[in-house]
Amino acid sequence: MSSFFKDKVVAITGGSDGIGKALIDELIPLGAKIATCGRNQDKLYNLQVQYSHHLLHTVVADVSRYHDCEHFINSTIETFGGIDILINNAGVSMRALLTDLDIDVIKKVMDINFYGTVYCTKLALESIIKRQGSIVGISSIAGYRGLPGRSGYSASKFAMNGWLESIRTELLDSNVNVLWVCPGFTSSNIRNAAINKQGESVGESLMNEGSMMSAAKCARYILSAIENRKRTLVLTFTGKRTVFMNRFFPSWTDKMVKKFFFKDGKLVK
Ligand SMILES: NC(=O)c1ccc[n+]([C@@H]2O[C@H](COP(=O)([O-])OP(=O)(O)OC[C@H]3O[C@@H](n4cnc5c(N)ncnc54)[C@H](OP(=O)(O)O)[C@@H]3O)[C@@H](O)[C@H]2O)c1
Repeated sequence: MSSFFKDKVVAITGGSDGIGKALIDELIPLGAKIATCGRNQDKLYNLQVQYSHHLLHTVVADVSRYHDCEHFINSTIETFGGIDILINNAGVSMRALLTDLDIDVIKKVMDINFYGTVYCTKLALESIIKRQGSIVGISSIAGYRGLPGRSGYSASKFAMNGWLESIRTELLDSNVNVLWVCPGFTSSNIRNAAINKQGESVGESLMNEGSMMSAAKCARYILSAIENRKRTLVLTFTGKRTVFMNRFFPSWTDKMVKKFFFKDGKLVK
């Protein structure tokens, strides 16, 4: 990768694990100034220790809370003078059927994945416009194709894509780039941290994490798309195939998706 990221201020929500952490690992050697947030102080502390000699600003913040986002974005602007690139990455998944779940599960997922993106983007917008920078949303294949057991998650990612498309159009003459990224299955903590029908972490992944794209590879694709000011990025062969099949053969895709996620009538993934 070129020197594109050198001295750029990149604010990444949820940088203490998974894809967000991998983005930081890639960006630090490129000379970017990085700000990140997460709910767990210990994970952010570990990050600070790992990169103690680099320009890294960390804030304990839950993106589902407007005032936490305000603290994260304002303190980033105070620390580094502005924001060039905002990567709305923080997210949670879920694993529960609509028939079983407490309705608050859907609200919680929407509050983090969708409203977290809305709050941080709105708060950083003036600075990003001034710097003609980029707004990025880490969405999902579930933002193109609804997935069973993940109805709130899919809704949050569809909402994110539609919202970003609207503001891309609003910002067309501002030279701000708006990109959303749809990773396919990527090895990370997301399936362990996913919430169950009562809103608690499920605490295990039912999938073979080792066979997935690595978070590091995913991060490299994301950074290349930001540098090249792309509109959208859909990752993995399975991810691309799902989006394509759903567009042209939606009924057939319903059956294939059901077959993938269910066994003997039970949700197994
Ligand atoms: N991995 C995949 O297969 C995959 C596929 C498609 C899309 N994605 C998307 O990629 C993004 C990153 O996921 P990941 O796989 O890297 O997950 P991950 O390993 O679970 O990491 C999630 C990160 O977000 C933070 N986070 C979660 N909720 C937060 C909140 N309310 N406020 C602030 N930070 C929060 C977590 O830290 P704390 O827990 O400490 O807050 C953690 O740093 C998500 O938006 C996800 O939907 C992932």
